[in-house]
Amino acid sequence: MVVSFRTAVLLLTLLLPKASLSASPCKPSGYLKSESDENCDQSNGADCCEAGKSYPQYKNSPQVTDHTPAILTLNCFEEDCDGGGASACDDKFHSDDDFIVALSTGWYNNKRRCGKKIKITAENGKSVLAKVVDECDSLHGCDKDHDNQPPCRCNVVDASKAVWEELGLNTDDGEANITWSDVGEENSSWSDA
Ligand SMILES: *[C@@H]1O[C@H](CO)[C@@H](O)[C@H](O)[C@H]1NC(C)=O
Ligand SMILES: *[C@@H]1O[C@H](CO)[C@@H](O)[C@H](O)[C@H]1NC(C)=O
Repeated sequence: MVVSFRTAVLLLTLLLPKASLSASPCKPSGYLKSESDENCDQSNGADCCEAGKSYPQYKNSPQVTDHTPAILTLNCFEEDCDGGGASACDDKFHSDDDFIVALSTGWYNNKRRCGKKIKITAENGKSVLAKVVDECDSLHGCDKDHDNQPPCRCNVVDASKAVWEELGLNTDDGEANITWSDVGEENSSWSDA
């Protein structure tokens, strides 16, 4: 079959928008309607929920590989931060000087990654090992427990200040592109107690 130049241009015009739309790895599994209009801590660039507005929820996260693409965000795990409860793995607060992260709900996987180490690699080539202590809840949000912020996206590694600094990244950027992978399971001790 001979495809004319015009047909080719037409095909490209039709296909390209779809291709770029499917580039987002996050497919909503539902929508959460906010009932709250409270202010939230916007120092890390977060959007606060607005009453009456709907926010996407994500049950699943992209498949984990040796180089899982993700968005690094900044989280405070200490008790005196604005909003947010204790960490979901152990119901405790943690020091932001520790190499610790929260993962989107799919990756958090019902506590299965609690206490496990992941390796995070920045675009500048630097990497760090960090322990999973919390969930970046992709299903719930827009309430006091979540500082009135919408559910987390499906592909977030929400990390302590120490992780950002070890990677040589600037916390003022708020977001960075990274990849991560599971580090072997050996020697990770964790108790639910
Ligand atoms: C991350 O990568 C995407 C796609 O390559 C790009 O559009 C975006 O600006 C990057 N984000 C940051 C914070 O560098
Ligand atoms: C894990 O523990 C074993 C035995 O206690 C030890 O020989 C090994 O070096 C440890 N591995 C790591 C990665 O720490």
